[in-house]
Amino acid sequence: MLLGVTGGIAAYKACSLARLLVGAGARVRVVMTRSATRFVGPDTFAALTGGPAYTDLFEEPGAVLHVRLAREADLAIVAPATANVLAKLAHGIADDLLTAALLEATCPLVLAPAMHTGMWEHPATRANVETLTGRGARIVGPEAGSLAAGDEGPGRMAEPEEILRVAEEVAASGRDLAGARIVVTAGPTWEPIDPVRFVGNRSSGRMGVAVAKEAFDRGADVTLVLGPGAVEPPPGLRVVRVETAEEMRRVVLEAADGADAVVMAAAVADFRPGSTAPRKLKKEAGPPEVRLVPTPDILAELGAERRARLLVGFAAETADEPGELLEAGRSKLAAKGLDLLVVNEVGRPGTGFGAETNRAAILAADGSEEPLREWTKAELARAICDRLAALRRPLR
Ligand code: CTP
Repeated sequence: MLLGVTGGIAAYKACSLARLLVGAGARVRVVMTRSATRFVGPDTFAALTGGPAYTDLFEEPGAVLHVRLAREADLAIVAPATANVLAKLAHGIADDLLTAALLEATCPLVLAPAMHTGMWEHPATRANVETLTGRGARIVGPEAGSLAAGDEGPGRMAEPEEILRVAEEVAASGRDLAGARIVVTAGPTWEPIDPVRFVGNRSSGRMGVAVAKEAFDRGADVTLVLGPGAVEPPPGLRVVRVETAEEMRRVVLEAADGADAVVMAAAVADFRPGSTAPRKLKKEAGPPEVRLVPTPDILAELGAERRARLLVGFAAETADEPGELLEAGRSKLAAKGLDLLVVNEVGRPGTGFGAETNRAAILAADGSEEPLREWTKAELARAICDRLAALRRPLR
């Protein structure tokens, strides 16, 4: 375990965290920034962890210390994480031992921010936190409470017990989808009118790609069925590109056979032009009349045939009030025979299609729910995979 300690008054609480981590059985390597040493001495951590607390990039002559620390770590925690270190991590700055080690590290990262309220709420910090969560870092806290200089407000570091709990959760969730075969769909479908025109929608594919990446990182064997014009998927995934709802249906039904889960995050067109002109429709012929006919409902078909063990659907709903949204979600969950349904609120600026965040709730067939709130797509992907991992357990 790599415990990074940066320069905030909460550094004194990192001593309790180091003690708790050692008590939980972790081998802890502490790296302190220069300013952290103004609050606590390296010898305190050395005594608590039974190993040196490192402060200097060039501490071990001839050795590449930051690389060794990065490679040895199964999990990295930064507590407290100042606004400065969040900014450096978000931008890949590596000007001391801690930031260099974290840039090299590929292990999961838990960050426990601590700073004054103004710094925490500053758009720069908000953007940095979003960048870091988008890359998979887990943020714990901060809490509201008394801060340095007698001030009050959000910015106080989460308690060491809470950081330990999250760290244990992250460590345990590392590979909890190992061995699972998961099919994820993402993006829109394009239904052709003629060789150049189509009926489509605004889906970017980001949500489905986030689920595919999260499941892959957690050890699943992932097939991503990706619609046209969607974002580039991360490397390493098996990607099958499709264009129309019918093509998506064919690929998904085949891939779903015997799969552990199918996550239908794609915004499949509900309607397509009844016929496709073989040649480009000419302007001179006047505006064409395009009659739309329904596409096959892939999710309903999967639900009826139970090809995969677990089925996750998405619903985009507009509603005047949250109760209405959840009600619509619950009936869709039951009607399509799903295990999980992610209900997205659409129609408000800044959420849903193409946006960075979703206002969504997760409804489960067992009646449990993740209440409606704002999520980054990475957070929502993580929550979906948490649910899949929990649902999969009794089946194996
Ligand atoms: N879906 C599908 N095949 C379709 C249409 C949708 O598999 N032809 C899937 C989507 O991937 C998504 C869910 O079904 O997981 C959406 O369900 P749908 O009933 O289409 O809900 P909405 O898109 O919200 O639309 P509406 O409320 O108009 O039914």
